[in-house]
Amino acid sequence: MATDLLLGRIVSVTGAVATVRINRAAGAGAPDQAVATGIGVGAMIKIRVGRNFVFASVDRVFPSGGHDEFLDAEVSLVGEGSQSDTGQLLDFRRGVSQYPFPGDEVVSTSSADWAKVFRLENTSTITLGDIHATPDVKASLNLDALLSKHFAVLGSTGVGKSTTVAALLHKILDAAPNGHVVLIDPHGEYAAAFRDNSIHLDVETLKLPFWLMNFEEHAEAFLTSEGASRERDRDILGKSLLHVRQKNYLNIDIERVTADSPVPYFISDLLEELELEAGRLEKSADASRYIRLKLKMEEVWRDPRYGFMFGEGLMATDSMGDLLSKLLRIPTQGKPLTILDVSGMPSEIVSVVVSMISRLVFDYSIWSRGEKNVPILLVCEEAQRYLPREDGHPKSAAQRNFERIAKEGRKHGISLGLISQRPSDLSESVLSQCGSLFVLRLTTERDQHFIKSAVPDWAHGVVSGISALRNRECIVFGEAVPMPVRVAIDFLDEARRPSSSDPDFTASWNELQEDPGMVGRVISRWRNQRRDA
Ligand SMILES: Nc1ncnc2c1ncn2[C@@H]1O[C@H](COP(=O)(O)OP(=O)(O)OP(=O)(O)O)[C@@H](O)[C@H]1O
Ligand SMILES: [Mg+2]
Repeated sequence: MATDLLLGRIVSVTGAVATVRINRAAGAGAPDQAVATGIGVGAMIKIRVGRNFVFASVDRVFPSGGHDEFLDAEVSLVGEGSQSDTGQLLDFRRGVSQYPFPGDEVVSTSSADWAKVFRLENTSTITLGDIHATPDVKASLNLDALLSKHFAVLGSTGVGKSTTVAALLHKILDAAPNGHVVLIDPHGEYAAAFRDNSIHLDVETLKLPFWLMNFEEHAEAFLTSEGASRERDRDILGKSLLHVRQKNYLNIDIERVTADSPVPYFISDLLEELELEAGRLEKSADASRYIRLKLKMEEVWRDPRYGFMFGEGLMATDSMGDLLSKLLRIPTQGKPLTILDVSGMPSEIVSVVVSMISRLVFDYSIWSRGEKNVPILLVCEEAQRYLPREDGHPKSAAQRNFERIAKEGRKHGISLGLISQRPSDLSESVLSQCGSLFVLRLTTERDQHFIKSAVPDWAHGVVSGISALRNRECIVFGEAVPMPVRVAIDFLDEARRPSSSDPDFTASWNELQEDPGMVGRVISRWRNQRRDA
């Protein structure tokens, strides 16, 4: 038996947009919440068109001239499904083949309809939470559609992005335990959420040899000059780097070695090369450039904070194979996730490290053609840092790598998971390449406008709802879901959550802090630049 409630009728239809006249009182007090909330902006309604239902999303509601008991609404047609003999929804598909006519009946969408739309058959799925206003209808996501194109998790600060990402990754890895996920963690918060199935690489455990930097990254790490002077310094660095790489300790065809090749060299060779060159030039202005570059390199090399790149044992050992196996989880060994915790690294090198890691992921995929395909998911917090909107500033090496992955990654089996609290600072073209969006509460007009630019016109009504989302709620758009849907995300146990909990001021300020050793221990760690000192 059909439980649909008659809400009103179609007034006019123009292309994929229709105007409907709705009885104000219809739906109010209905026991099914999904029916009762069926008329507001962003809600989904159904239109009976012959033996089909056409689904439409409410974009705008306005008074119906002269008829107090009615409301008019502008709706966008979203998809359709067929009706059973008893008037129930049988299936759902996107797009509309049969358009409604004026006078057609507009009926409510019930929890049973949502359940039918989200019953994804013959696909691997994960569930993120309950569909808004339904008692317990789960929002299923099509896992392959989610992973095979990039996705983004967006929301204002503190609304639950990191926890949502942890929830998604837990579900993905529960469904696909031999996955390969690399997560760039700028605040060191994720290790707490994945104790059993991840490896944690931080400033103490990561061994990222300096010689794996390409030329561009060397320039970012060592050059401080700007403008024309920087160009000159780049030439010097490029020439010297090529020279020392060609010393060729691995016996690679020398013709093939470039300043970018991941070929080990000794830093002492590079310093010597700069010294020699400076000597040869003696009084010329360029001699001082060589010396300045050498001094900067020595400074970085001797700085203990850079030990993870320049420390002993990293000099000329060929550890590239170990690093890649570990980073990309090949073999997985029960730990499909790598958490790259950059929180303890000197801030001036973080961008270079992120650049190296993203480039290693991409280049591995390029050079693994002919081998067994290993798709990789690269998840990046604070994505606006690496994929910012075009602003005329010179691009960092990391930005160039991420842009390349955003454009070409999919073809090589790399997909991006981008997280940002300032979506309007993200590159618009990259966001439009994201197949799925998870949008948590976003309060600024600018951000909402930006999200609208990334979703089809017919979903704009749904976007209007993002400023009113509660914590732990999001709207999912895109290919992973049959239609945009508001989801109450499942509660995640503390042991599976990132350790991002906000400090509790009042609780802390009510406690006495009388441990006299505390400040001394902090200073010792600070001076030794070691968290475990
Ligand atoms: N699904 C959930 N289950 C349990 N707790 C949650 C959930 N989502 C959010 N929270 C809680 O809400 C708080 C904020 O979440 P979270 O740190 O994920 O927000 P965020 O958007 O990443 O913040 P920031 O902008 O600071 O990075 C945390 O204390 C977290 O425990
Ligand atoms: Mg966060």
